[in-house]
Amino acid sequence: MRSLIDIKDFTTEELDSLIATAKDIIANPEKYSDACRGKKLATLFFEPSTRTRLSFEAAMLELGGSVIGFSEASSSSAAKGESVADTAKMISCYADIMAMRHPKEGAPFVASLSATIPVINAGDGGHCHPTQTLADLLTISMEKGRLDNLTVGFCGDLKYGRTVHSLISALSRSKGIKLVLISPEELKIPSFVRYETIEKYGMDYEETASLEEALPKLDILYMTRIQRERFSDTYQYERLKDSYILTEEKMALAKEDTSVLHPLPRVNEISVKVDNDKRACYFKQALYGKYMRMALILKLLEEAKTPKIAPDFSGEEYIHERIECKNPRCISATEQELPKIFKITDPAANICRCVFCEEKSNYKV
Ligand code: CP
Repeated sequence: MRSLIDIKDFTTEELDSLIATAKDIIANPEKYSDACRGKKLATLFFEPSTRTRLSFEAAMLELGGSVIGFSEASSSSAAKGESVADTAKMISCYADIMAMRHPKEGAPFVASLSATIPVINAGDGGHCHPTQTLADLLTISMEKGRLDNLTVGFCGDLKYGRTVHSLISALSRSKGIKLVLISPEELKIPSFVRYETIEKYGMDYEETASLEEALPKLDILYMTRIQRERFSDTYQYERLKDSYILTEEKMALAKEDTSVLHPLPRVNEISVKVDNDKRACYFKQALYGKYMRMALILKLLEEAKTPKIAPDFSGEEYIHERIECKNPRCISATEQELPKIFKITDPAANICRCVFCEEKSNYKV
């Protein structure tokens, strides 16, 4: 049995196979209309969602299965103080597979440790969003016919934009990717993406604050919303919220075949007038998300027939109960009796990372 918590949980071959299945579902939907008859998906959404929750639910219904769940924490027993681990144990009694969105980073991972059914991370705080990446990869494959040899610009909130973190992680496996990271200084890519993906895998990248300068180089422009809900300082959000607005005039700087992606929802960072541009792909991207989630549900239910393999934190690279995670958004800040586990990721620089949220810490005092 397997879960999808981080996009790196799947190999490149597995991602290619999911894309191939999604394309086959698009071409032959009737072949799949009964594939999950008798199976139940639970959608546990502790944070708002339109696309992810409803596309998961549509995906399961189109596979002939059924759906249970909740769309806000206040209507679940989390409001009475139930832990993520206990919630996951309970849902394992009622459903065959679950998709969880949670504001705390690492919460779906914690759920996967106690669940006896597959857990899908549907977005954990500002950390990861692997199923959005599945939608993004199918969109790029459909638009460009390839996932390699592309210059990809990420624009906006690269600090809290979890979809950015997961897509960069997936692209680190492709050849010939050039990243152009476009953000204000305050919203630059976080340390775990910079050091554990971009630098670690030797990705070619540049950073700039200018969307106008970057635009003419890009094959893909991945716009993002400034993530108001992750800011602790309202003044800073107000100061940064209009940093980038893609307009028809700016689109004139882009190549004829630049594809514009956005995970959505958008606020004002893409003018509605750009929607009519043939290069705007973001609504197609949301539709492709449903087909990739169908492919994912099929894969994880098939793999649920094999025993669960618990992660092994016993090696010398793991540090137990010695370090507190400093990230207030980490699930370890609220989940009762969660073990404190850090992985040494850079011994030369004295750096380890929380296994739940990837926040860095020094481990030698
Ligand atoms: N892209 C995305 O996660 O959208 P929702 O928040 O509407 O699910």
